[in-house]
Amino acid sequence: SDWIPVKQARLAESSGRPCEIRGWVRTRRDSKGGFSFIEINDGSSLGNLQVVAPAELDNYAGEIQRLTAGCSVVVRGELQASPAKGQATELHASAVRVLGWADPETYPLQKKRHSFEKLREWAHLRTRTNTLGAVMRVRDQICQSIHRFFHENGFLYVNTPIITASDCEGAGEMFRVTTLDLERLAKSGGPVDFSFDFFDKPTFLTVSGQLEGETYATSLGRIYTFGPTFRAENSNTSRHLAEFWMIEPEAAFFDLADNMQLAEQFLKQVFSECLQCCEEDMAFFDQRIEKGKIDQIRGVIDKPFEHMTYTEAIKVLETSGQKFDYDIAWGSDLQAEHERYLTEQHVGGPLILTDYPSTIKPFYMRVSDDEKTVAAMDVLVPGVGEIIGGSQREERLDVLRKRMAEQSLSEDEYGWYVDLRKYGTVPHAGFGLGLERAVQYVTGMANIRDVIPFPRTPGSAEF
Ligand code: 4AD
Ligand code: MG
Repeated sequence: SDWIPVKQARLAESSGRPCEIRGWVRTRRDSKGGFSFIEINDGSSLGNLQVVAPAELDNYAGEIQRLTAGCSVVVRGELQASPAKGQATELHASAVRVLGWADPETYPLQKKRHSFEKLREWAHLRTRTNTLGAVMRVRDQICQSIHRFFHENGFLYVNTPIITASDCEGAGEMFRVTTLDLERLAKSGGPVDFSFDFFDKPTFLTVSGQLEGETYATSLGRIYTFGPTFRAENSNTSRHLAEFWMIEPEAAFFDLADNMQLAEQFLKQVFSECLQCCEEDMAFFDQRIEKGKIDQIRGVIDKPFEHMTYTEAIKVLETSGQKFDYDIAWGSDLQAEHERYLTEQHVGGPLILTDYPSTIKPFYMRVSDDEKTVAAMDVLVPGVGEIIGGSQREERLDVLRKRMAEQSLSEDEYGWYVDLRKYGTVPHAGFGLGLERAVQYVTGMANIRDVIPFPRTPGSAEF
């Protein structure tokens, strides 16, 4: 068929090229001269294609003049250079077929602009708006770039389990996996019993694929995971989700410096491909969501990331003269406000913080010579705060065992993880990028709920 996406139609060398487009009506306007102008969007681009439908079409009065926002149509015709401003081509229709009507009395996405908060109530329809459509195209681009970056750099894509018995981050913020035991329910007729373990022990939705990823890095060399992760943390903020997507590279024979370098190269390539491949959407974010976003990202791509140790960061915060909600002292975890002060006010760009106190970091991070800090790194960016968390891993058997004992992790449960240090142990390192935080940063969207299709947050799992 002659079908092409709207994106392609809008760029086509016009003059008489026959084509068909399929999409949803954004607006319709009838001219006195016997035409209707219909703006069609099919999700392939931010911009619509203008269809010019002449009154001669047989369904002009019966259907075309009844078209409203949200109706689905298939339009055949010829592409012509457009005399109107802001578009190269328009489609001169020879046939407009209406596939589905959308009652203007009830269709929520009328011309009036809705707040992002309101749009979340229509998460099933909101990607028909300019902003959410653009967000999801950029999100896709980021995902594609991520896979490409790792593939090009020799990292194998591995799929780690979603149901797991281990708590990688040791924070106890896990969702328990259980079954609806229908058989028991039928027998007892009583209340639903959630005490039954389908597996022979309690299992949870994964908080990170890292531990399993390490087993692959210490056999295949360089790997990355890219999957859903779940955190039952009760934080109702604009940067936390109960279900989010994480990318976790892990590389054997890597130390912290290699890890930081990888993270920086990785972010720069992903950001730069967004600017290249999503030009129209990025211009939209730059104008409508966060002024100056494009220049900001260009600056990030061109300059080396700043580095600072946790200890230096604490000094900066203590002498900043800034009033924080949470007091800060060596040994305490940085809050979002501290991270944002450092990256936004102090550095004015991305910042890699390293060498955190061991007491605030998980058991698997490599203990440094000072025995107080671990070889950890967090990447902070303006507007979002932490987007990457990572570390060099503890590869020394005795030190790992000591750390596990301190945190009451039994070798019965984590014997497989300890084995990696027993048999041919090697230095290795990795990190995790929160996909939604990366999308937030690139687009400038203020709330993480607006960069994932169906957000799950405490108290809310609609759709
Ligand atoms: O810093 P985190 O907890 O690190 C890990 O899970 C490591 N196991 C990663 C590794 O070394 N392989 O999480 C990594 C990143 C954070 O920097 C943040 O971007 C994102 O995951 N993240 C969240 N994103 C949205 N909602 C939440 N609740 C998040 N928690 C973490
Ligand atoms: Mg972290």
